[in-house]
Amino acid sequence: MKAIIPAAGLGTRFLPATKTIAKEMLPVLSKPTIQYVVEEALGAQADEVIIVNSEQKKSIEEYFSPNPDLVSMLDGANKSSYAREVEHAGSLPVSFVLQPEALGLGHAVMMASDNVLSAKDGAEPFYVLLGDVLVPDNTILPRMLEISKEHNGASVIAVYQVPHDQVNRFGVISGSAIEDDVWKVTGLVEKPPIEEAPTDLAIFGRYLLSPRIMELLATTAPGAGGEIQLTDAMIELLKTEEMYALVIDGSEGFDVGTIESWLTTSISLAMRDEKLRKTIFETFHHK
Ligand code: G1P
Repeated sequence: MKAIIPAAGLGTRFLPATKTIAKEMLPVLSKPTIQYVVEEALGAQADEVIIVNSEQKKSIEEYFSPNPDLVSMLDGANKSSYAREVEHAGSLPVSFVLQPEALGLGHAVMMASDNVLSAKDGAEPFYVLLGDVLVPDNTILPRMLEISKEHNGASVIAVYQVPHDQVNRFGVISGSAIEDDVWKVTGLVEKPPIEEAPTDLAIFGRYLLSPRIMELLATTAPGAGGEIQLTDAMIELLKTEEMYALVIDGSEGFDVGTIESWLTTSISLAMRDEKLRKTIFETFHHK
């Protein structure tokens, strides 16, 4: 099973750092954010992760390439735990496709079309993971996969309840609950004005999509914001295939899309580590 991670965005919110560092390479603790996302996909039965990259962000490619010189230098200097980490990052099954122009999320996903449609076991559902949210406990994709299997390989998206004044920042679903936390989706709308939003259930950034979406993306016209929207192709998909939504708890994800949320995520994950937690408490105790 394949997973696609779009990573060609500019990272404007992190300027000036992102003048030379890809947004996805910003660390949370010792790992770049994108490694969390890659490992999440691999931990949910993906066997290859395709990163949709831009020409300017070759550092991501370099990061996931082996570096035997660095590994042997670290081993020679008795720093084998670092050596293993470096080796690990360079051995993950990650490949790259280029998105020549930032024409939207749908366009980014479509760049990996050949990779998905030419799978050796025939085209099968694939994941899309947006890199602005980390799910370090990997609680979402395995449940989505289960729901898809229960419904003959149907598409499944993760959604969560957002405050009403924020629905216009997201893709929003309509449909009805078939279980406590599962909806059958009947409609979707990208970034609706609040008065046109059918529900407050917003697409979260984790998708398990039928390969048919790739054909539909090829004929999807620009939509909201003038961009080729994944949501618009999913609306087309709904005409011929079933789609389900897993309602997750927003706290399952850790946002890294803004300075504030990235910082909060770093602190939250640091608090899970006994040594770092102690350092934080000691540092800020008297301030
Ligand atoms: C994208 C999707 C949107 C989804 C959101 C989740 O929007 O188009 O449907 O709700 O991600 O973060 P973007 O944030 O790229 O504008």
